[in-house]
Amino acid sequence: MDIWHVRGGNRLFGSCRVQGSKNASLPILAASVARPVRSRLKNVPRLKDVDAALQILSHLGCRVERDEHELLIDSSSFTGAEIPRELMEEMRSSVIFMGALLARCGEAKLSLPGGCQLGKRPIDLHLSALRQMGAEITEEGRDIFCRAEKLHGAEIELRFPSVGATENIMLAACAAEGETTIHGAAREPEIVSLQDYLRGIGVEISGAGSGIVSIKGAERRDEAAYTIPGDRIVASTLACACAAAGGRIILSGVDSDHFSTVLHFLNEAGCDIINFNDIVEISSDGKLHAPGHIITAPYPGFPTDAQPILMAALLRSQGTTHITETIFENRFRQVGELRRLGGDIAVSGTEAVLRGVKKLRGDTLTAPDLRGGAAMIVAGLHAEGETIIIDAGHIARGYESFDDTLCALGADVWTEHK
Ligand code: UD1
Repeated sequence: MDIWHVRGGNRLFGSCRVQGSKNASLPILAASVARPVRSRLKNVPRLKDVDAALQILSHLGCRVERDEHELLIDSSSFTGAEIPRELMEEMRSSVIFMGALLARCGEAKLSLPGGCQLGKRPIDLHLSALRQMGAEITEEGRDIFCRAEKLHGAEIELRFPSVGATENIMLAACAAEGETTIHGAAREPEIVSLQDYLRGIGVEISGAGSGIVSIKGAERRDEAAYTIPGDRIVASTLACACAAAGGRIILSGVDSDHFSTVLHFLNEAGCDIINFNDIVEISSDGKLHAPGHIITAPYPGFPTDAQPILMAALLRSQGTTHITETIFENRFRQVGELRRLGGDIAVSGTEAVLRGVKKLRGDTLTAPDLRGGAAMIVAGLHAEGETIIIDAGHIARGYESFDDTLCALGADVWTEHK
């Protein structure tokens, strides 16, 4: 079990290069098997979820070499289309292998994915889109069997801009005959990253970042190289940590436009933000005020992944903040734990009302999920005394050596593995 110890009260100062993006890396790792190609990927973060994706690639017969943050994946040695349940359940993104395997060999045998328990998280949009492209899909309990003699292009309307469904369709469409157009596609930066990687492996694709993505097919390429961009949620977490604890930090290696909504609310809460290219400086005196109504929404709206983290930063702010969660039905799991530190938060359905308190006091908490765990670290940084976060294994799914990163900025944190 991973245990985090956070002793609050230290301000944060210094510079930090933000790690590569988890949510950009995972679909690209799945995409690397969609066609026989040698992919060199740089700036890949060292995370539990990345390890899980690499285990799946190895299981599928791909050759994987790793040197720190660089990966070489050779998928020309691909041997099979079946992913065992224990590997599927390691994380949510394993579901993206469905589109990749259909593209590669017209078959995928897998099961429902794991990941954070944020509510029902169905995959109906993925399945109906793949069926429209000619896949036959049967579900038996948690097992899913997909087959397609031939995938064909289709006009697909997504009723909600699901990130995962958009990625799955993009991958399956690489092998489809004719053009596939996704209407109502997700517009997240990770979709643009996937498009950039796919172009590198010879796929003719356009429109990522807008609501309409078109995929016209692919030509053979033997090699591709891609550098994973910085992680906008890790950058948001560090910015929120500085806002809460006070201090002045400089973040580099991540496009500030990709987390501008988070920076906007920190600015409204009283932080000074200076942006230049991929460098962002955040200064805070640790005395925040309520920044206005926060409503999560698909990109370019406020990211649901940053909602628990910003909530944690605002616990001692002056005034009342309303937060509306529109993406996941169970994304306030951090609230009960934040209350243990003295946070005053009332939740009713999708609405949370946070009344700032003068003081937080450290306690022993349990991390409910990845971003909930990050929220607890941020809360602990401005609580009096020590906050202990037990069962904190989720945090390493998305944050690389985060204890070292925070210590280098002056925080008093340490971790144990029991
Ligand atoms: C991705 C991100 C996750 C982020 C989320 C929303 C990765 C690895 N994960 O998750 O960090 O919080 O986007 O920005 O990139 N839905 C359906 N049917 C479907 C698919 C989704 O109803 O077939 C619903 C979900 O239940 C949820 C909403 O759509 O309420 C958003 O899900 P989606 O965009 O698919 O998120 P993920 O791809 O799972």
